[in-house]
Amino acid sequence: HSSTLSVTVNGRRHQLTVDNRTSLLDLLRERLDLPGTKKGCDQGACGACTVLVDGRRVNACLTLAVRCQDAEVTTIEGLASDGGELHPLQQAFIEQDAFQCGYCTPGQIMSGVGCIREGHTGSREEIREWMSGNICRCGCYVKIVNAVAQAAR
Ligand code: FES
Repeated sequence: HSSTLSVTVNGRRHQLTVDNRTSLLDLLRERLDLPGTKKGCDQGACGACTVLVDGRRVNACLTLAVRCQDAEVTTIEGLASDGGELHPLQQAFIEQDAFQCGYCTPGQIMSGVGCIREGHTGSREEIREWMSGNICRCGCYVKIVNAVAQAAR
């Protein structure tokens, strides 16, 4: 079965017909041509697919697209300002050298934005705890925490 879905992604409203089984991740990557959100495990274990839905962090691979009716979704592509100025956390990732291969980075940054908004940045330990759903196989955790802490200041 399929459904008609109205959803706003990065400020742009879309209306489209989707198979009810489609994940938000596949909708973003394959239907809306937004491949910045990464598919790591596709089963909720790595955090590479983290996006914001109505301001809250979700794993897009575990979220059915049809559950996002009338929602506002923000992906890594929507984080910089219209003028191209980077979000403070994107800038902090560059300054803190918080990535190696970069595959987990969009998810790390979206999760970090959520972490800061939720106010879970009181200490390095707290940041680490609240970012623990985001795996980095290169092991850049120290620098990722540095970046989140910098942007939270
Ligand atoms: Fe969604 Fe790994 S791809 S958590």
